Amino acid sequence: MEPIYLDYNATTPIDPAVAAAMIPYIYEHFGNPSSSHAFGQRAKTAVDKARCQVADLLGCLPDEVILTSGGTESNNHAIKGVSGAYREKGNHIITSSVEHPAVLDVCAFLEGHGFDVTYLPVDSYGMVNPRQLEWAITPQTILVSVMHANNEIGTIQPISEISEIAHRNGVLAHADCAQSVGKIPVSVDELGVDLLSIAGHKLYAPKGIGALYIRSGVRLEKLMHGAGHEMGWRAGTENVIEAAGLGMACQLIAENLAGYCERMTETRDMLEAQLGERLPDMKINGHPEHRLPNTSSISFPSLEADTILSNLEYVAASAGAACHSDQVEISSVLQAMRLPLDEAMGTLRFSTGRYTTRDEITRAVEDVAQAVEAARSRSPQGV
Ligand SMILES: Cc1ncc(COP(=O)(O)O)c(C=O)c1O
Repeated sequence: MEPIYLDYNATTPIDPAVAAAMIPYIYEHFGNPSSSHAFGQRAKTAVDKARCQVADLLGCLPDEVILTSGGTESNNHAIKGVSGAYREKGNHIITSSVEHPAVLDVCAFLEGHGFDVTYLPVDSYGMVNPRQLEWAITPQTILVSVMHANNEIGTIQPISEISEIAHRNGVLAHADCAQSVGKIPVSVDELGVDLLSIAGHKLYAPKGIGALYIRSGVRLEKLMHGAGHEMGWRAGTENVIEAAGLGMACQLIAENLAGYCERMTETRDMLEAQLGERLPDMKINGHPEHRLPNTSSISFPSLEADTILSNLEYVAASAGAACHSDQVEISSVLQAMRLPLDEAMGTLRFSTGRYTTRDEITRAVEDVAQAVEAARSRSPQGV
């Protein structure tokens, strides 16, 4: 049986149009964008074009976009960059308890360097309450960093409200948009953020490329020191091949988002409806309305996610909890939502993509239902 990929939040394949856009820079145009001769200028044109394509998608100026190695670097640069540049103003950062490690670990690092970090709690849908942000802000606060959409449960945070509160209090706002760009509309002005991270491999570009939006006037300490690449923001010879790919990936989204969204929603909803008929005790996590169109976090009570995953014959999905010897390690997101243990430990994440077909969903439902039933027949609870 052909494997069925339902893990598009982990990574996406490269879109054929993206691959085609990169090929000339693999085989022909190898110049260094910093060189003034024709070889270099051809490469520079590709990087400049990519920057414009990213900016067009986000609704900002090309000069406000720097190319990075991915979501992790963009988040590091945004958060460490603000903490270094605004240190004289204060040492307090606010984030949420459901962020990706690419934010949480940066905050933990800064805590070890004299910063105070507030981790906003979330409700049972994984949603931050903007009022709690308002209460958490102090005269020392310099940055609020809350993700746009959660990678595990798909919940979409009220970023425009969060930015408005931050700005009213003289605080900068950053959003990790690694999971939202390419799935829902993302505009820097609508979100009102000062900094925004994107990750190429989540949006059908290759792994190892991303971008950081830096609103004009915002200061950042450098992460990478060296020569004056990326308008002086990030040293290092540009990844020309992948920049061309990221640019094309962003152009495709700008042109086709509604269609992609329709396909992802249709297949995700079909998966949830058909699985729900087969396994009526399953529970869907995440916000019922404010949720990514492709993400389905499903709890199968009293079962272990790893057991279900190992029973799957041809579906690729991921677990919300991992078992190590006798201990179950629940993901920090499900913990922050205070999901009951018996639900959290049997939680799987399915994420559909622009290539997912209805036929794949029909076959996937069969595999998942059988894997859950097999796990149930072997579970000590016998439920
Ligand atoms: C929400 C979120 N932020 C950041 C990242 C990290 O991005 P990258 O893999 O490009 O470093 C991921 C990747 O899983 C993510 O889901």
